Amino acid sequence: MTDFQALRERFPVLARKTYLNSGSYCALADSVRAAINAYMDDRLQLGANWDVWVAKNEAVRSAMAAVLRAAPDEVAVTASASAGLNALASAFDFSQPRNKVIVSDFEFPTNAQIWHAQELRGARVVHVPRAADGYIPLENFAQAIDDETQLVAVTQVCFRNGARLDIAGIVRLAHARGARVLLDCYQAVGGLTVDVHQLDVDFAVGGMLKYLLGTAGIGFLYVRAALIPALTPSNSGWFAQENIFAMDITANRPSPSARRFEAGTPAVVNCYAAEAGLKIILEVGTDVIEQRVRELTRRCMAGLERIGWASVTPPQDERRGPMVCIPARDPERLFTTLMEQGIVASFRDNNIRATVHFYNSDDDIDHFVTALAASRTRHHPDVR
Ligand SMILES: Cc1ncc(COP(=O)(O)O)c(C=O)c1O
Repeated sequence: MTDFQALRERFPVLARKTYLNSGSYCALADSVRAAINAYMDDRLQLGANWDVWVAKNEAVRSAMAAVLRAAPDEVAVTASASAGLNALASAFDFSQPRNKVIVSDFEFPTNAQIWHAQELRGARVVHVPRAADGYIPLENFAQAIDDETQLVAVTQVCFRNGARLDIAGIVRLAHARGARVLLDCYQAVGGLTVDVHQLDVDFAVGGMLKYLLGTAGIGFLYVRAALIPALTPSNSGWFAQENIFAMDITANRPSPSARRFEAGTPAVVNCYAAEAGLKIILEVGTDVIEQRVRELTRRCMAGLERIGWASVTPPQDERRGPMVCIPARDPERLFTTLMEQGIVASFRDNNIRATVHFYNSDDDIDHFVTALAASRTRHHPDVR
């Protein structure tokens, strides 16, 4: 049995705040703070400690691979999800009939703008629209994916409404037409199990500052092993070379592994934080985390139903990630009202977003629902 109370005590902010904001930035664990301090100690006491620092990047790669249930050679450690996407995009050839990139209406800007930027290189970007109910059924993907599709680039969980796409269904449709699938799992990984081999996606991107419990300034790109040799990024750098320390300035010799999608000197301090965060995720286990996250979002959905404030997030467990979104008349004002009561949430579009992690308690959810009930007259969109 996992002792969630003991785990919770490792995140000091939780003693002060009802923290429902991991989908924006995780709570800081004491071990992550200690890891950052260990880097600082190295700098104060040794000046530089490069052997250890380069090994840290490899430790992050291995831990990230373990979280994704992939091989370390399939994982690039990047500065952000954007950096991984840009490196990957630079390896695609859009000067051929198969030049379509399909994205959905649910994308975070990162996973749409970067593909639109490839229009300069011949890409055609097609958006799969949402249906009248606000969600995107598989049929809409079936209509868009064709023999000219090179890539289907989709988010796993929508950052606007918390809805989870049918990734297995999208992968089946794409592979049947010879297209590849890129998964933006930023709003899922660490909060749900994301097994890239089981999902059968070709690529996946994300970052370490949300459910992976690390920090900003570090992310990852997963590339299926069999695809790596044929993908040579033109976005590169010395840490992407086969032999980083060859210092050969006469040629580009990319690493045979996914490291070819990396660039320059790693953000060392971020590696310290990310490694410590990933260690917690692996220690608790993503299946256990997913189960706990599901219980918490369920409790939240049930509480919302009880107070008559319908969520825009799907009620079915398998169609939801770690996020519950609630429509509000003025989300920014409601956000401030919640803040005044020690509740940290976030807002996007017309919604307040409550995002949970294993370290949240039933009391956190109840505090949030009770605060919403108290502000119903002022903030519910239908109460005037
Ligand atoms: C689904 C999703 N993708 C991407 C990002 C951001 O990616 P980056 O800032 O690393 O480009 C976010 C951040 O909130 C996100 O929620």
